[in-house]
Amino acid sequence: RNMSEASKFRVFITRSDMPEVGVELLKKQCDVTICDTPLPISRKDLLSSVSGVDGIYCSLNEKIDKELLDTAGSNLKVVTTISVGHDHIDVPECKKRGIRIGYTPNVLTDATAELTLALLLATSRRLPEAMHEAQTGGWKSWAPTWMTGPGLAGATVGIAGFGRIGQAVAKRVKSFNTSKIIYFNRSERPEAKEIGAIKVSFEELLVQSDFVICCAALTPETKEIFNKDAFNKMKKTAIFVNTSRGGLVDQDALIEALQNNTIRAAGLDVTTPEPLPLNSPLFKLKNCVILPHIGSAAIDARNTMSELCAKNILAVLNGTEMPAELK
Ligand code: DGY
Repeated sequence: RNMSEASKFRVFITRSDMPEVGVELLKKQCDVTICDTPLPISRKDLLSSVSGVDGIYCSLNEKIDKELLDTAGSNLKVVTTISVGHDHIDVPECKKRGIRIGYTPNVLTDATAELTLALLLATSRRLPEAMHEAQTGGWKSWAPTWMTGPGLAGATVGIAGFGRIGQAVAKRVKSFNTSKIIYFNRSERPEAKEIGAIKVSFEELLVQSDFVICCAALTPETKEIFNKDAFNKMKKTAIFVNTSRGGLVDQDALIEALQNNTIRAAGLDVTTPEPLPLNSPLFKLKNCVILPHIGSAAIDARNTMSELCAKNILAVLNGTEMPAELK
C-alpha cells in the first residue's frame, strides 16, 4: 500500500481520553476520529460513528456485537480493545466476518497483579475501615484486639484462573510466606510447578483456601461460578478477592454471604454493573472493599496498552503481523 491509500484508513476511537501515545501513533498513518465526550459513548452515538470505518479502537465499555458490526459495515477490518478481557466482543461473529481482533495481554499483568495484592491486603487488614476510624475519632488508643484481621503468612491461598495474571499474583503472594498456593484452572499449567502451586478442583479450592482470589476470564463456563453454593463451601474466615470481571460472581449471593458472615470479607475491583450504583448494599458493608475497576491503572501499563492498540491497527493497515492478536 502506498501512503496516500493508507491515509484513507479510517479509525474510530471510542473515548476522548485514550492515552495520547497510541492516538498520536495512529494519527501518523490513519484518518482518526475520536469520540468527543469524556464519558463512555452512548450506544446510539457509537453506532452512528462506526459506519464505514476500517478500524475501531475501543474499551471494555463498548459492546462489539452483531448489530454494531452490521452498522460498521464491510469496510471494518480490525477492532482493538484497550483491555486483555474481551467478553464485550462477540469474537465468533468477528471471526465469521474476517475482522481481526487486537487486545492487550501481558502489558498489564504486573499492574493487575500489584492491584490484586493491594486489594487483598486492604481487605484482610481492613485499611479503609481503619482509615475511617482514624479520621473520625474511633482511634481511642492502641488496642490489642481492635482492627485485627488475618495475615497472609502461613495461609493457604487459592487462585481461580491460573493464566498470566493468576500466576503473577501467585508469585507475589508467595513472598508473604504463605504455606500453600493452590489453583483451579481448566487445564494444568506447566508454569505452576516452578511457582509451587498445586492444581485442585474448584470445590477443593473453596474448601481449603483462607484467601480465594478470582483471576479467571469471564466466559459462558465461568459465569457466576462464585454463587451461593460456592460461598457456602468457603471457610467462615475466608476472604474473597475479585479483580477479573464482576460476571464471575452471583453478586446477590455474595451480598448475602457478607451480611451473614458466611465468609469474612470481600475485596472487589469489579462488580455488576459498573459503576456500582451508590445504593448497592455492598457499599454499606464494612467487610467489603470496593475499587472502581483500576486493576491495570498503572501509568506505564496504560500507556503501553494504548501503544499496543495503535500497533495492532497499524499492523492490519500495513499488512504485517499484529503484535497482540486474539486468535
Ligand atoms: C482488562 O484489561 O480486561 C481490564 O479489565 C482493564 O484493564
